Amino acid sequence: MQLITTLATVAAVATVGNAQLQKVNDFSAGPTKVGMYSYVPKTLTKPAPIIVAVHHCQGSATGYSTESQLMPQADKHGIILIFPNSKSSGGCFDVASDATLKHDGGGDSQTIANMVKYAVTNYGGDANRTYAVGTSSGAMMANVLAGAYPDVFKATSVYSGVPDGCFAVAGSTATQDPPGWSNNCANGQLTKTAAAWGDAVRSYYPTYTGTRPRMQIFHGTADNTLRYPNYAEQLKQWSNVLGLTTTKNATNTPQSGYTQTIYGDGTTTTAQLVGYSAQGVGHTVPQHPDMDIAFFGLA
Ligand SMILES: *[C@@H]1O[C@H](CO)[C@@H](O)[C@H](O)[C@H]1NC(C)=O
Ligand SMILES: *[C@@H]1O[C@H](CO)[C@@H](O)[C@H](O)[C@H]1NC(C)=O
Repeated sequence: MQLITTLATVAAVATVGNAQLQKVNDFSAGPTKVGMYSYVPKTLTKPAPIIVAVHHCQGSATGYSTESQLMPQADKHGIILIFPNSKSSGGCFDVASDATLKHDGGGDSQTIANMVKYAVTNYGGDANRTYAVGTSSGAMMANVLAGAYPDVFKATSVYSGVPDGCFAVAGSTATQDPPGWSNNCANGQLTKTAAAWGDAVRSYYPTYTGTRPRMQIFHGTADNTLRYPNYAEQLKQWSNVLGLTTTKNATNTPQSGYTQTIYGDGTTTTAQLVGYSAQGVGHTVPQHPDMDIAFFGLA
């Protein structure tokens, strides 16, 4: 038995740094059933920044490992990637229960925060340089992570999401299958004041007083799944949370048809909150991995 344990440990260690997407079988912290996949480049920065990349509904860790286009960036910059893998029937993450919306509340967000701890302990990850990227359900989860784990995530880049808490179902507990799709939110009919959205975020970790994550937010004007009003609602939310008032707009930035809005001081890569509105683009906004890396300060 002892021998078997030792061999298993050696095998686990040997696969770290193999530059292959791998299912992390010994991640067992939970508390929910979301699976952990990781990608650890052969050469890591020491300690290595960590990016958690969260897939869309009907997606998977494997699929998003290529769709996010982050693996070449990880190789280039020595970054650890974590790909959470939903096991719900629709392949979505729980962004609605009281459990997931709360810091250490026992939901999917806590499982993902525990994956970061695993990567710090087992791969030499940098707890002080941890970031999140997500698309659609994954973008919603990235917003949830920014709200419930501002102590873990320094910056977040979201593609086609909704505000943190927009899908909330009050009184719901954590379940493997998320408690419902919110048509009201998805259709862009759930609007609140900036202060109300900000209060929601603050309520998910009420004792927290530290720095909040910087946010980069992409959305297409022709999104028919999570409609375009969700873009402005997210910007209202995070501008309130981050205490930012002034904006600067730049058309055709970074490319034709995109309008960039920077909140507060700073530039494309240093501002606290940057939005990109993609004219005529639907729910699948192209990933911009180079911009994710630059916004996180990892280029
Ligand atoms: C974490 O990063 C901040 C800057 O973002 C720095 O001031 C602080 O010293 C770092 N802490 C550790 C433990 O490295
Ligand atoms: C930037 O665009 C947004 C959205 O259209 C608008 O609300 C804001 O007033 C604009 N800011 C400036 C400085 O023009």
